[in-house]
Amino acid sequence: MSFITLHDKSFTPYISERQITATVEKLAKSIFKDFQSETPVFIGILNGSFVFAADFVRRYQGNCKITFVKLASYQGVESSGKVSQLIGLSEDLAGKSVIILEDIIDTGNTLEEIYNIFSVKNVKELKIATLFFKPDVFKKDLPIDYIGKTIPDDFIVGYGLDYNGLGRNLSSIYKLIPKKMKNIVLFGPPGAGKGTQAEFLKEKYNLVHISTGDVFRFNIKNQTELGKLAKSYMDKGDLVPDTVTINMLKAEVEKNADANGFIFDGFPRTESQSRALDKFLEEKGQAISGMVALEVPEDLLVERLLKRGETSGRPDDQDENKIRNRFNEYETKTAVLKDYYAAQNKYYGVNGVGSIEEITERLCAVFDKLD
Ligand code: IMP
Ligand code: MG
Repeated sequence: MSFITLHDKSFTPYISERQITATVEKLAKSIFKDFQSETPVFIGILNGSFVFAADFVRRYQGNCKITFVKLASYQGVESSGKVSQLIGLSEDLAGKSVIILEDIIDTGNTLEEIYNIFSVKNVKELKIATLFFKPDVFKKDLPIDYIGKTIPDDFIVGYGLDYNGLGRNLSSIYKLIPKKMKNIVLFGPPGAGKGTQAEFLKEKYNLVHISTGDVFRFNIKNQTELGKLAKSYMDKGDLVPDTVTINMLKAEVEKNADANGFIFDGFPRTESQSRALDKFLEEKGQAISGMVALEVPEDLLVERLLKRGETSGRPDDQDENKIRNRFNEYETKTAVLKDYYAAQNKYYGVNGVGSIEEITERLCAVFDKLD
């Protein structure tokens, strides 16, 4: 077995036919154990569960009935959040033991709908059996009685499950290979023109620029939960804990799930933040492509900033000691991260002396080879 393509996406073999059979067998056995003294009605939720339901009932050892209803919630690879109504139920379920057969439970939106619909049917008992379950994304507080296999938050196809209509006929399960993102940690000392360069690079490579400062201001201004939390620390004069910051960034990354990649600016600042970021990206099947740092000699920066201070009037650009302080702080912070990423062969120093265009060109040469 090798990877397959459906529409615009690639999928890699994940769960074999044999494993699926064993899982279905196990479900059939444990449900039979609980219902052997009666004739349960199995209800397959179409379309996804038609293959599972067919295999399941053939492995179920006792008397049973099987029927199907339709209740679709999926558009693409992301749960749409809204679920349509039920069609196709003609059977009177009053007084019967009903066992729902689901192919997969993801956010639980469909499951909630199922509970709502069946709660008014006067059934004797309602049980839920699902072949696959994604606990990491499940958002509801609703019981699931029989779970075939728990899987991480990957999008899967095959054995009845589809990606925009395709893949249902595959006899084993495949999972989506996430497209490789260009994720760059951008560094540059004060006065190196990092902001200008980031603007340009984000356009050219179609990346999302995540500036920690902007993300903080946005969350605080819009009074998000995380913004309020961050502010509570800031108001006390405390540093905002890493977990709060990383959760804000995570939210920002999730918001842009379709991006080609991200330029991280102002984060990470410490080795532990870098580790947290790596871990988070790894869970998404992604990684940092590289840390790109503009390298400018201190004396030149001081000269540039003093010149800028003459016209901008920014007080922190007019005092040479303050400038050297900022530079030292920058150097200390970068040094830690430089070691961290260099150890993974991911550090790229770029000569930051020259015109804006020259520096852009050098940055592009690095960005081009990163993936
Ligand atoms: P939920 O309402 O988010 O729990 O989604 C349930 C429905 O979404 C399932 O019955 C499937 O039709 C679809 N679904 C969820 N995850 C996947 C997946 O990984 N591949 C294909 N379809 C999925
Ligand atoms: Mg379904």
